[in-house]
Amino acid sequence: MNYTVRKFDAVIVGAGGAGLRAAIQLSEAGLKTAVITKVFPTRSHTVAAQGGVAASLGNSEEDHWHWHMYDTVKGSDWLGDQDAIEYMCRKANEVVIELEHYGMPFDRLDNGRIYQRPFGGHMSNFGEKPVRRSCAAADRTGHAMLHAMYQRNVKVNTQFFVEWQALDLVRDADGDVLGVTAMEMETGEIVVFEAKATIFASGGAGRIYYSSTNAFINTGDGLGMAARAGIPLEDMEFWQFHPTGVAGAGVLITEGVRGEGGILRNSAGERFMERYAPNAKDLASRDVVSRAMTTEINEGRGCGPNKDFVLLDITHLPPETIMKRLPGIHEIALQFAGVDCLKESIPVVPTAHYQMGGIPTNFLGQVVVPKNGNHAEPVPGFYAAGECACASVHGANRLGTNSLLDLLVFGKSAGETAVADLKRSAAAHKPLPKEAIDRTLARLDRLNRQTEGSNVDETRLAMQRNMQKNCGVFRFKDLLKQGVERILEIEERVAHTEIRDKSRVFNTARIEALELDNQIEVAKATMISAAARLESRGAHVRDDAPDTPERPNGRDDANWLKHTLWFREGNRLDYKPVHMKPLTVDTIELKKRAY
Ligand code: FUM
Repeated sequence: MNYTVRKFDAVIVGAGGAGLRAAIQLSEAGLKTAVITKVFPTRSHTVAAQGGVAASLGNSEEDHWHWHMYDTVKGSDWLGDQDAIEYMCRKANEVVIELEHYGMPFDRLDNGRIYQRPFGGHMSNFGEKPVRRSCAAADRTGHAMLHAMYQRNVKVNTQFFVEWQALDLVRDADGDVLGVTAMEMETGEIVVFEAKATIFASGGAGRIYYSSTNAFINTGDGLGMAARAGIPLEDMEFWQFHPTGVAGAGVLITEGVRGEGGILRNSAGERFMERYAPNAKDLASRDVVSRAMTTEINEGRGCGPNKDFVLLDITHLPPETIMKRLPGIHEIALQFAGVDCLKESIPVVPTAHYQMGGIPTNFLGQVVVPKNGNHAEPVPGFYAAGECACASVHGANRLGTNSLLDLLVFGKSAGETAVADLKRSAAAHKPLPKEAIDRTLARLDRLNRQTEGSNVDETRLAMQRNMQKNCGVFRFKDLLKQGVERILEIEERVAHTEIRDKSRVFNTARIEALELDNQIEVAKATMISAAARLESRGAHVRDDAPDTPERPNGRDDANWLKHTLWFREGNRLDYKPVHMKPLTVDTIELKKRAY
């Protein structure tokens, strides 16, 4: 099979928020930067982020980065690294003001400052009461963000490769990363993108679940590529279920709805969150709200003929507030639930939304792996940011709006670090290894030869159903065990997927088979890491690790205050310590989590 080699200073995989933010940094420094993306940049999944980006600007009421840091550590159930969390929360105002200067059309207060709304788990004064911290452009914040950053990239001459599928990471015998292989979807052309810096910003993998708020493109490509190249995946047992996906459709209804005053109700019309989180109520942390909703449904207080959803009520809000602050939600409710939310409540269920884990990085955006007894040795030439990375600021549960903040802060820091590394190192590219493209060619060759194999759609569906049933909002020892056995069987089927029409180059079936290679790695990492973690923490809640006085919330800090590392080779697990020491302030000490 023919291929060509193209040389860049830096190659970025993914053109969502993190990729675009990193690219600005590199291109502005005059480096020749390529961005490889499956879809046109402004259609990347960041477009679906609705409710805002967190920053303690304090435009409507007093706020402080240290309060934001406290909320993020507490939200993470103390699994987040406190150095990275301090770094992110301190940088928040800077990256939001930068965006404003790029031309991002934030909503405005009457005094001209950026509009901010409350979001779950964001509180003032170390957990006292909800605070307005989410900087919003109506309910289309991610959309506005992508447009502002894409335009900035055009200005600084970033080169985009649109509708290209990245396939494999190129590493040499020293373990250094020298670029990626990729395929143009339309022509089938194969290129090795050789680079001195490779940044993964390829987004999440929510499509390993059956019901997800994620776009179909979210197939964990960066994670699969990293895992195949020997990089471990960190904390993959922690998946966020967003409380408000449209029942039956999965489409996201922003938490900003509750930030504007929306209320969750059960079949009796009760505002049930008052029982589960007496202080924060509907604005408790997402894991808490999703579990409360699931409990209501499981105990027979769900709504509808099958009692399988709850209602999100905003009928008490002034219609002009809804149409000004939540116009997209009005449209989504009409299109996907068939309800006019000015007059009726929206049926909602918890839906897979975000992976807290990912490719291990530090807060400088460097990918770090265990080496010579050190758990965080940077991999030369390799950086990652955004949902595909684990910095780790979200720990066991992410707060809403911290995802857009994460991708801005760590997209920027990955770009800055790569620029600094490139300036320090010699000008020449390291020679590509002879076998640089072998893994990619072998995968494509297998797909071309395979006959009588397994069907891609059926295999993917089996994986998604397995994840949904065995690794959901609540987790059960027996189901986790069964889930591991099943995912290993499904892995066998993935290794023998067959595509029918092999003659075509523009071939979405081939792309879907290649994506499934990535999804199965993420699914295995998730199931195996989840079955092994014998405690409840954040979004990982097990039936055999209940809330007791000795173990608040089911957490076992003595044995499990540590990050999981899953290695593809032999499905091996390793663990590394949580960074409890922040950069400049005191450690936020462990305590029971309550809202
Ligand atoms: O609810 C939302 O608008 C989603 C935000 C997020 O996931 O951070």
